[in-house]
Amino acid sequence: MNKAFSKESLEEYARDKRSEFEQVLKRIVEIPTVSVEPDRKGEVQRGAEEAVSLLESFGAKAELHATKGHPIVYGRMDRGKDLPTVTVYNHLDVQPAEGPDWKTEPFDFVNHGDRYFGRGTTDDKGPAITALFGARYAWENDVPVNIRFLWELEEEIGSPHFEETIKAKAADFATDSVVVSDTVWVSRTRPAQPAGLRGLQGFRFTLQTGETDQHSGTAGGAARNPVTEICQLISECVDGKTGRVKIPGFYTDVVAPSKKELEDLKQCGFTVRDFKKDHLFRSLRVEDPLDVMKRIWMMPTFEVHGIAGGYQGPGVKTIIPPKATAIVSCRLVPDMNPKKIVKLVTDFVKSKNKDVKVAAEHALPAYQGKTTGPYADAIRAAMKFAFGKEPVFVREGGSIGAVLSMEKVFKAPVFFLGLSLPEHGYHAPNENFDWPQARGGMAAFADYFRRVGEM
Ligand code: BES
Ligand code: MN
Ligand code: MN
Repeated sequence: MNKAFSKESLEEYARDKRSEFEQVLKRIVEIPTVSVEPDRKGEVQRGAEEAVSLLESFGAKAELHATKGHPIVYGRMDRGKDLPTVTVYNHLDVQPAEGPDWKTEPFDFVNHGDRYFGRGTTDDKGPAITALFGARYAWENDVPVNIRFLWELEEEIGSPHFEETIKAKAADFATDSVVVSDTVWVSRTRPAQPAGLRGLQGFRFTLQTGETDQHSGTAGGAARNPVTEICQLISECVDGKTGRVKIPGFYTDVVAPSKKELEDLKQCGFTVRDFKKDHLFRSLRVEDPLDVMKRIWMMPTFEVHGIAGGYQGPGVKTIIPPKATAIVSCRLVPDMNPKKIVKLVTDFVKSKNKDVKVAAEHALPAYQGKTTGPYADAIRAAMKFAFGKEPVFVREGGSIGAVLSMEKVFKAPVFFLGLSLPEHGYHAPNENFDWPQARGGMAAFADYFRRVGEM
């Protein structure tokens, strides 16, 4: 085997490049690329432009492609027409980061020992930059593959323009396989290779019954209260304590996990104790580990993300509000159909409260991954090489809209080489990434490209 791809050489590379990695991650994390906030449009654009110059400084050819929304960034380290092409997918947009629970400024990159704090450090800028460092190593050491980078900036809003954009470029972006680095391990000592992702169907329920706040003494009793009605509606949709969805037909298309999958769950290293600790939960709906895993990876949900309306300040302001909104989404599993869920939920809501307006948001079906064949084997081997442990196959609970689109448009298989950990705090305050994951990730990616080159 080529000496450049020994464990020692890759460890040396990581050691040498650590401060460069931290500088690059800082540069990217400090651009607040919050895709959902219209006011940040310029920042998202700036993030994409910065990403293009970053790719160029790494020796790639890079382009920015406009879409009807935020741009996408495409980079190439091409070696030869007849060689296999691997496309690395990451997203550079991030979740909003307001709130009092941040201990540091969310868009300041804070380097604290082995940990890197800031919005986007783990989801998904850290993994993106890690893959880039691994790719540069493979490229500089003449691995016979073409490496492409496909960096999206609308992932956190459901990838609304991704498919049409890559479709228009399908010939130019053609690839033999895709590797996505945007998923979470079971724990630091258990790498995971997703065997599937949940889908998502978002909704906004809005009810308006007046024009302005009114005195609750003069009108209360006769006036409709939209906040109260929205609360009632929610409790008609879902049992808050158990999470059981009460909408008839909601579970009809759910495919039960196979015996093998349930066996895998028992071996996967998940513990309820760590789950609670990593996510700062005081208690859960259920405590049995198998039940928890089934609920977070294999069952659909109906979740309320926020209810807006009425008074939120100090004390008690005695008004009746004119309007209330609930922001809701359903996680979907195989074989649930987002369109069918939209109809089911809309019809149900209307039957309970005809004045509520239902707006459907991002629609992503669930994804069933491939866990066999030479690419999946290569990922498993690369993880083992870099981290000393083979990944376990489990489904994951989150959603990535781009995955199905890439499979469809490129007609190429998609695999996952995720690097995030539960304690990194996806979407949470004090989001972080860490050097051991970056160091191992660089080695895993370099090793993966080498293996694909030898396939
Ligand atoms: N990286 C996550 C997806 C993910 C989460 C994969 C957990 C595996 C485990 C991604 O950035 C994400 O947050 N997706 C959103 C998509 C939505 C806003 C359309 C999600 O899952 O909520
Ligand atoms: Mn992500
Ligand atoms: Mn995310």
